[in-house]
Amino acid sequence: MSRQSYNGIIREYKEFLPVDEKTPVITLNEGNTPLIYAGHLSKLAGKNIEVYLKYEGLNPTGSFKDRGMTLAISKACQERATAVICASTGNTSASAAAYAAVAGIKCIVLIPSGAIALGKLSQALIHGARVLAVKGNFDKALDLVKEIAAKYPITLVNSLNPFRIEGQKTASFEICDHLGDAPDFQVMPVGNAGNITAYWKGYKEYKSSGKSSKLPVMLGFQAEGAAPIVRNKPVKNPETIATAIRIGNPASWKSALEARDESRGLIDMVSDAAILRAYKILAEKEGIFAEPASAASIAGLLKLIESGYFKKPLSENKCRIVCILTGHGLKDPERAMKSVKKPKLIKPDLKAILKEIGY
Ligand code: F0G
Repeated sequence: MSRQSYNGIIREYKEFLPVDEKTPVITLNEGNTPLIYAGHLSKLAGKNIEVYLKYEGLNPTGSFKDRGMTLAISKACQERATAVICASTGNTSASAAAYAAVAGIKCIVLIPSGAIALGKLSQALIHGARVLAVKGNFDKALDLVKEIAAKYPITLVNSLNPFRIEGQKTASFEICDHLGDAPDFQVMPVGNAGNITAYWKGYKEYKSSGKSSKLPVMLGFQAEGAAPIVRNKPVKNPETIATAIRIGNPASWKSALEARDESRGLIDMVSDAAILRAYKILAEKEGIFAEPASAASIAGLLKLIESGYFKKPLSENKCRIVCILTGHGLKDPERAMKSVKKPKLIKPDLKAILKEIGY
């Protein structure tokens, strides 16, 4: 396949997707994201273990949401919808706004007021969505959009829309295509739990179609202050610096448990401090700038490495772990600036600069 011939996940994986020749393909050429070998993390993980990073931040709007949105918006257009709506912690709204712009339909977005990252908010606005900041959290906003979509001719494009899950499952296909088979383990953040549901569906479909020979163990991570699945009850006031996964009552809770149990995996939690540590390790050691929610994957990986989790099932065979980096670091520039030393102000003087940089 030449690079030019890649035209997005719908055309690439149509035999696995609910599309026909009449489906208009609304695409920004999403998908086909790199799977990057992580040298530092592989070394930390130990002998015979390879860690790979699926960098979903390189999708057109900077997150994995584009995979589901291309299909959700294409199907909405096929059904002659004129407007779409979503609640969002930021990335879904950025993606919905961009794809609705391509399709030429109206996009309405409800976001939790004051709790979404600046990059994401700027995207929804610049693409022309009608953005309403709700005084309440994501869970409240989701309840409201569900009610609106049930009563008015507006298509819901949150991951309760099954086409979102269908599109997102293509990331597992890409991982299998890249590695030649499914990985042994997959590590990912869990918020509303649509993505873990989608990946697991994708892995199962690829295996039953003979494209892969095994299934990975699914390892999901929530933030400690927003960990309803781990605590086995909804969290009324979720709190975490990883605002993308600041969710107290995930819509796909049940299917996340299925992914966990069918794969003999786990869903655990990581602290904000651990997320920030992982965020910096990713940037400083692997050269990848991912948003804090994505760093929850790496915080989870480190937690499991430190507990010896990967030692148990290992034989002499190589073990491959894929961590999903769901969104780009530029989505949340404020968090990055809070995590580093500010640049030092200096006179435009050669001697002073050389002294400062140690020459
Ligand atoms: N990582 C990022 C960067 C996200 O934006 C999200 C969810 C997740 C992980 C969790 O994925 O919800 O499928 O379990 N963001 C949604 C949004 C909720 O509105 O953008 P999930």
